Amino acid sequence: MCDKNPQKVKALFNEIAQYYDKTNNYISFFTHYIIKYLALKELNIKPRSMILDVCCGTGDFTQIINKFYPRVNIIGIDFSQNMIKLAKIKNPNGVFAVADCLNLPFKEREFNYVTASFGLRNIENRKQAISEIYRVLDFGGEFLHVDFGEHNKISKIFDFIVPIIAKISKINIQHYKYLIDTKNDFPQPDKLIEEFSELGFKFVKRKDYLFGAISIQIMEK
Ligand SMILES: C[S@@+](CC[C@H](N)C(=O)[O-])C[C@H]1O[C@@H](n2cnc3c(N)ncnc32)[C@H](O)[C@@H]1O
Repeated sequence: MCDKNPQKVKALFNEIAQYYDKTNNYISFFTHYIIKYLALKELNIKPRSMILDVCCGTGDFTQIINKFYPRVNIIGIDFSQNMIKLAKIKNPNGVFAVADCLNLPFKEREFNYVTASFGLRNIENRKQAISEIYRVLDFGGEFLHVDFGEHNKISKIFDFIVPIIAKISKINIQHYKYLIDTKNDFPQPDKLIEEFSELGFKFVKRKDYLFGAISIQIMEK
């Protein structure tokens, strides 16, 4: 079990924010952005929809939505101030707020879609975060979850690549050891779908990328 104490997680993301995008590009061989784009396409987003992106980091989903879905509203929240600062620089017209996923500052059923990419894995009280996502989604609304998938051979290759890239990029490897630990500690997609279902969601779709190393799940309220 890795330490996901919220204060430590927040401090870590505040510290790595400045090189988060660059490292993400390197360790994913620039595929993370394409996967995020393909994942959003799976939602068939309708015009004028309201989307909440939780654990938005530097605002990749907002960037993709604003580029390809101009008539859709998206709000990004993250509890790291530094990540939100960068999200605002990357998306000058984007709407962002510093907020905790465990206590979303929104009313019930405000959103048609909620998205979370590479976020839930960092949350100690994951069930509370999923319940909050469920609460703010409208009936018939969909939750798109993107993260590491099967703990397979491709996923294991990642465990070797990350320390090498961290070393080349002169990044504190302890930070990226956390990434590997949380990946290996995270439930595989079928277990995760069970967890979402136990909290009220209905399963819609699962899709795997990079030979199953990355998986997306779409769940409906
Ligand atoms: C690995 S990053 C993912 C960022 C972005 N979604 C992406 O795909 O690049 C995880 C993010 O989750 C945020 N986070 C972790 N726990 C959170 C919580 N309880 N509430 C809000 N944000 C949280 C971190 O600050 C960090 O920005």
